This record gives sequence, C-alpha cells and structure tokens, in this order.
Amino acid sequence: MRKPVVMGNWKLNGTKDSVKELVTAFVKVAGDNKKVDVAVCAPAIFIGQVESLAQGSDLKYGSEDVDVHTKGAFTGENSPAMIKEFGATYAIVGHSERRQYHKESNECVAEKFKAAQENGLIPVLCIGESEAEYDEGKTLEVCQAELKAIIDLCGIEAFKNAIIAYEPIWAIGTGKTATPEIAQNVHEGIRNYLKSFNAEVADGVRILYGGSCNAKTAPELFAQKDIDGGLIGGASLKVPDFTAIIEAATANA
Ligand code: PGA
Repeated sequence: MRKPVVMGNWKLNGTKDSVKELVTAFVKVAGDNKKVDVAVCAPAIFIGQVESLAQGSDLKYGSEDVDVHTKGAFTGENSPAMIKEFGATYAIVGHSERRQYHKESNECVAEKFKAAQENGLIPVLCIGESEAEYDEGKTLEVCQAELKAIIDLCGIEAFKNAIIAYEPIWAIGTGKTATPEIAQNVHEGIRNYLKSFNAEVADGVRILYGGSCNAKTAPELFAQKDIDGGLIGGASLKVPDFTAIIEAATANA
C-alpha cells in the first residue's frame, strides 16, 4: 500500500507574511490527515522560515530545485547539503519550468537527483510531455527517456527512495487538467516501464499527478489506482483549496 503524498510547489511566490499564514494552516491540516504525507516546497530563501514554523509537526517540506554541487564557487546556487541542514525532506528536480527556462537536460536532472539523494533528500522527479508531444502521441516516449537518464546514472534501486511527479506541461498553470483516464493511463505506463527493470521498485514508488490539480478535480484523480497524490502549484497557495486536496487524498488513502 502506497501512502499518498500531497505536495505544494509554491514556485516564485510568497512573502514572510504569506509563508507564515500558509505554514501555520498546513501544520494543522497535516496533523489532522496523518494517512497522507503533506509537504510544501518553498523558494530556498523561505526554507529557514518554514523550518521554524513547521518544527515538531507532521508537515514536511523541501526545495523547488537543488544544485549538483555540495559547495564551492557556484554563485547563486543552493546545495543539497544546505537544504538538508534546514530540515528539508524533499527536493524537486527536473520541473518543466527548470527544463524550459534553465535549459536543464535529462542528464543534468539526473545529476541533481543523485546529489539530492546523496545528501539525504528525497528527490521528487518531475517528468511529462509538451502539448505538441502529447498531440503526436509521444507521452510515454518522453517520460521513459526522462526516467532512463536517472536509471542510467543511479540505477533502478534509486527509485526506492524517490517520488515521481507526472506533470503534462500542457496542464501546468493552464487550467487544463488531464482527465483521470488520461492521467491513469500514463501513470500505469510509467509504472510498467519501471517494472521492466524491477517489479518491486515499480510497485513501491509513489507517482503523483501535477498540472492544474485543484479541489474539484483531485477526488477523481486520486481515486485512480496508479495515482498516489499530487504536486500542486497554484492551489497550494490557497489554504481552503490545498486543504480540500489533502482531504481528497485522505479519502482515498
Ligand atoms: P499548477 O502547477 O498546479 O499550478 O498547474 C503544478 C506544478 O507546476 O507543479
């Protein structure tokens, strides 16, 4: 039985005040929904504040990205060791916005995945196709290539201690959620691909759905057998919406 995860991805949003409001609320929601792992991934500059507010609670947290280096002359980066020192559990790697705007290749994402794991963080690997690739029927091909880069560098066993987030790029921030059927088919395809390397790892890994997942669409998405929760952007910035999504995951746990 896979424990569902509902994880917020705040992206480039937040103020000290909004972080306080959100984390205070989500600490309570996480405590009330123990059948689900509840987490927020915050801009690095707020992680220390999240640490103070979430201390001793069930709310977990992480970074939205991580560098491949642990220290040194890499101006502007945040190392996995630094993020870990602030009590983080997770590091998102390979978000499509990083792949697109920062030109991160599959190989670069694999290096980040490895660095996160080596420093005690659980990587949350984002994969997914563009609208054009979707239209061409290339969804699984794209996802498999993104997974293969990790398997080549880290081995299939690395997915014992990682989370996958399937995020069709055409659904991110657009209001176009993939239907539960589309999402379930892709999640099943991802799991089957991993099964061809190691069935036990494939059965155990949690695969989240992300892309305009909201309070309305979450219940049906989370009812699908290969969808183990969600990576939530916009709706994780609103207390009632994120709370409703967590409750939907609890109902399916
Ligand atoms: P969205 O973003 O929920 O705002 O579509 C999801 C994500 O990019 O992780």
